[in-house]
This record gives sequence, C-alpha cells and structure tokens, in this order.
Amino acid sequence: MVETTVIGTSASTRWAEHARLRGAVRRAEIPGGHQVWVVAGYEEVSALLADPRLSLDKRHSDGQYTGYALPPALDRNLLNMDGDEHGRIRRLAAPAFSRRSADSLRAAVDRIVGEVFAALAENDGATVDLLDQLCVPVPALVIGELLGVPDDLYPALRDAANTMFTFDGSKESGRQLVQAIGWLTETFSTLVAAKRAAPADDLLSGWVRARDDEEALTEDELVSLAFLMMMAGLENAVFTCANIIVALIGSGAAAQAVSAWPQQRGGLMEQANPLPFAFRRFPVTDLTVGETIIPKGDTVLLSLIGADSDPARGDRPSLLFGRGPHYCLGAQVADLIVDAVVPELFVRHPRVQLAIPEAELVYRSSWRSHGLLALPVILTP
Ligand code: HEM
Repeated sequence: MVETTVIGTSASTRWAEHARLRGAVRRAEIPGGHQVWVVAGYEEVSALLADPRLSLDKRHSDGQYTGYALPPALDRNLLNMDGDEHGRIRRLAAPAFSRRSADSLRAAVDRIVGEVFAALAENDGATVDLLDQLCVPVPALVIGELLGVPDDLYPALRDAANTMFTFDGSKESGRQLVQAIGWLTETFSTLVAAKRAAPADDLLSGWVRARDDEEALTEDELVSLAFLMMMAGLENAVFTCANIIVALIGSGAAAQAVSAWPQQRGGLMEQANPLPFAFRRFPVTDLTVGETIIPKGDTVLLSLIGADSDPARGDRPSLLFGRGPHYCLGAQVADLIVDAVVPELFVRHPRVQLAIPEAELVYRSSWRSHGLLALPVILTP
C-alpha cells in the first residue's frame, strides 16, 4: 500500500510542505481528487524537466487527467507539446525573447514604469493596492506592448486567470471555468482576426504573417500561442513582484537589498516563485525514478520549490524558470520587469508599509500558483 499525501493550496505553508515531499517519489492527491506522482529532489527534478520520456502532451495521459479541458484554440500551446511540434513553434516565438530583444525592450519598460510610478505618487499618504496599481499594470503593459494586445483587456484577463488557477473540480468552479474559457477563446480569436485586418509592428502581427504567408503554424496554434504568452507572462511576473515586495517590507531589509540588487535579485525571485510545480507531465513509458516505477500515462508533478530548497542542490542553478526544452521563454523579460518595479518602489517610497498585518494578506487558494489577491500598502513619499 503506497502512502498518499494531499497537495495543499495555502501559500504560507508551501515551503514546509514541499520540503516534506522530498526524498522518495510520492503518490499524492490534488484538489479534485486526481492521483499524481510528486518528485521534489533537486537531482531528480532537474533531470526529469529535460527528459523526453516525460511528455507534456495530454494525449499521453492514461485518460484520468482532465485538467482544464481547453478547446483547440487555447490547447495547442507550447506547454502541451513535445519534440518537433514544440520545436517548430518555439523557434518561431524565441527570437523575440532573446537577451538582445529583451535589452531593446528596456526603453519601453522604463517609459511604462515611469508612467505607472507617476500615477502612484498621486496616492502618497493613502492606502493603495499595489497589485492593482503597480504589480499588474507594469507587466501587463510591457507584455501587451511586446505582443500588441490592447490594455483594456487586462482586468478581465486577470479574472479569467484567477478562475483557471483556483479551479478545484467542484460544480460551481467548473461552471465558472467553462465561462472563463469561452471568454478567452472568443477574445484571443478576435484579437488575431483584428491583427490580420490591421497588422502592426508587434509580435502577434508577425505570427499572423508566419501563419498566412508561410503556413508555419495552424490557426489554433497561433491563437494558443497568443493566449499562452499573455497568461504565462502576466500571471508569473505579477505575483513574483508582489511576493518580493511583501518579503522586503516584512524583513525590513529593503534598503540593503536595493543597494546590492544584482546580487540579491536571484535569491529573492526564487523565494517569491509563485509556481510550486512545473507543468504536469505524462511518462510515455514506465519510468523508474529511484526505487519507484511510475506507470506510463500517470500524471507527474515536478516540485520546483522542493528542488530549489533541497540542501543537496549545492550551488547548482535555480529551477525557478524550469530547464530543458520548455525553459521559460520569458525569463529575461521577467528579470527586466522585476528589476524595473521592485528597487524603484523602495527608492521612491523607502518607508512603504503594509496597510494590514502580513498574516492577513490573502493569497488565492490554489495548488498551482500562489498569488496575492491584493497588496494593500500605505505609501509615504
Ligand atoms: C518570474 C516570472 C516567471 C516565472 C517564475 C516563470 C516560470 C516558468 C516555468 C517554470 C516554465 C516551464 C514550465 C515547465 O517546463 O513545465 C515557463 C515556461 C514558459 N514561460 Fe515563464 N515564467 C515567468 C515569466 C514569464 C514571462 C514574463 C513570459 C512571457 C512574456 C513567460 C512565458 C513562458 C512561456 C511561453 C513558456 C513555455 C515555454 C515552452 O514550453 O517552450 N514566462 N515559465
């Protein structure tokens, strides 16, 4: 009889929980009742992230895993693909996310950050929600500018993301999910159609050309790519910034962190990682990990925060952005956003304080992503 662990949904206990998941490969249950295998040691997670015997394509699931049941227009994205198919789309998207391209985004980021902080300064002395006023607008505007997505979409996108990440298998949560998925499909399909009708100098227009002129990808792959970029980008960058800000206010060490920012940033980002697990994977063959044989088609979760906090990691690189063929395409953009948002907040508002006790901050209840629902602070110039 194999022992079953239940994966929790609380942000405050996640480090302790994932530390307990290390050691042997474990059978666990996720909210909704689905059985998974969890791997949480650095050595194993690092190797398995790049192991082609683990597929991200749901067609390799034994059928028990249902996930979000996305329609093809959202489902044909990089995080559901392997091998040549994944390589074809990734090669198309990657040039826009190289270090050189990220560097050339810097001017736009500086302009956007300047505007957002100027609007924030009008709230000096008042309580403001930094999530709404800083951590969402900067990544939303930066990624939106890169892709060519209008900024009036963000509030609804955020609501849809929240619905997806908090889906728990219940009837009500399922009803909301269907509604959110319908909205996302319609919105991204309409967006692609608008770019086709009026192309601009942005990524989405470039991908539409690659589809129409070179047939480099299908229509579903095109819409799915736009959807993944907005979701993966917005979600993670927003919560990383917010989690770092909370940590720095709580520690009282913001000034020291800002003065040694290039050395501090990596560690702070690791601690703030909103994604406890990599995307679920399915073995394409029976897979032996340590003493355990994971049957073909079962669901495997690789714990990124378990791996990063593993004492056996030594000085090996963080797995915050994954590893191997699916390594985060937006890692440089994420660094750029965090660099532009966090130090600047503490330079402009060195005495910023939480407006409520830290223990009362509310995180979304999710095993997939630990994001704050609001970040109320008092801004003092
Ligand atoms: C601090 C913020 C971020 C974190 C922690 C993060 C984390 C990750 C991780 C762990 C993966 C790999 C998932 C896996 O192998 O299962 C990933 C993939 C990805 N990320 Fe990020 N990400 C962040 C920001 C961004 C941004 C800003 C963008 C886009 C602008 C982005 C776009 C993507 C895409 C497109 C993939 C899929 C790559 C592929 O499958 O080839 N991410 N991210």
